[in-house]
Amino acid sequence: MVRVAITGVTGRMGKSLVRAAFEDAHIECIAAVARSESASLGLDAGELAGIAKIGVAISKSLQECIDPVEMVIDFTLPDPCIDNLRVCEQTGRAIVIGTTGFSSQQRHQIETIAQQIPVVLAPNMSVGVNLSFKLLEIAAKVLGNNVDIEIIEAHHRHKLDAPSGTALRMGEVIANVLDRDLDTQAVWGRHGRTDERKRDEIGFSVIRAGDIVGEHTVLFADEGERLEITHKASSRMTFASGAMRAALWLANKPAGLYDMQDVLGLRDLS
Ligand SMILES: NC(=O)c1ccc[n+]([C@@H]2O[C@H](COP(=O)([O-])OP(=O)(O)OC[C@H]3O[C@@H](n4cnc5c(N)ncnc54)[C@H](OP(=O)(O)O)[C@@H]3O)[C@@H](O)[C@H]2O)c1
Repeated sequence: MVRVAITGVTGRMGKSLVRAAFEDAHIECIAAVARSESASLGLDAGELAGIAKIGVAISKSLQECIDPVEMVIDFTLPDPCIDNLRVCEQTGRAIVIGTTGFSSQQRHQIETIAQQIPVVLAPNMSVGVNLSFKLLEIAAKVLGNNVDIEIIEAHHRHKLDAPSGTALRMGEVIANVLDRDLDTQAVWGRHGRTDERKRDEIGFSVIRAGDIVGEHTVLFADEGERLEITHKASSRMTFASGAMRAALWLANKPAGLYDMQDVLGLRDLS
């Protein structure tokens, strides 16, 4: 049994994580954390998540409830996530991070702290999306520089970062295979008259609307045919179950920075 603390329990993902832990026989949510000024402090985390009472009162900080906890699961915002990561570093706890939107400086902080504690960092915990990273690698290897590559993503109207961490990761996977640099070769949307598309661009387009949980399509388009690799999430439970899988995998692992490719054993698939 892995005894976890879930941060951001008032959030959309926080509630799904509490539910996923409740449904997983090998994970026990023994602590739950919300913002220090949250109106939900002291409430039962299970009740707030719309399941049964689980006997866990929501705390105002990770520090005050970390003692019995083995591992933290964080789906919040970059700044509070880095604060929680520091608490894990100071107390030697492992952490599963699903939060997205980190600056490059924050990513560097995560890499540095992961030398001291076990960390899974994944912008998308769904098994299907992580398999799609592998499929994209294969498609990029085979189709190479003979196609135009465009990445299109859609999310709900409340999402704060754009493009999504998953879309960026898809771009990175392709850029690595084709030896391209997203800093100079990505095109972040198009408007008005633009130059003709260059073959080595990787285009990103973003939709924010309604309650879309998360959709990603990568186009590999040539004259006469195109390949599309699409993933559609219809429920946040797919991310929450992936986070539980990551937590179970991370238990007893040595310090290091891991991702879902490690968790799912996809790295060695060729
Ligand atoms: N890796 C994945 O598979 C995956 C999947 C979906 C989402 N995500 C990412 O997970 C994160 C959360 O998404 P969401 O849709 O659940 O967002 P959300 O509903 O806005 O939830 C964010 C949570 O963070 C808390 N929070 C915000 N600022 C805080 C602060 N300063 N101190 C402490 N807590 C704070 C919020 O508390 P309040 O309720 O008090 O504001 C809320 O509980 C995002 O980064 C999103 O991109 C990742």
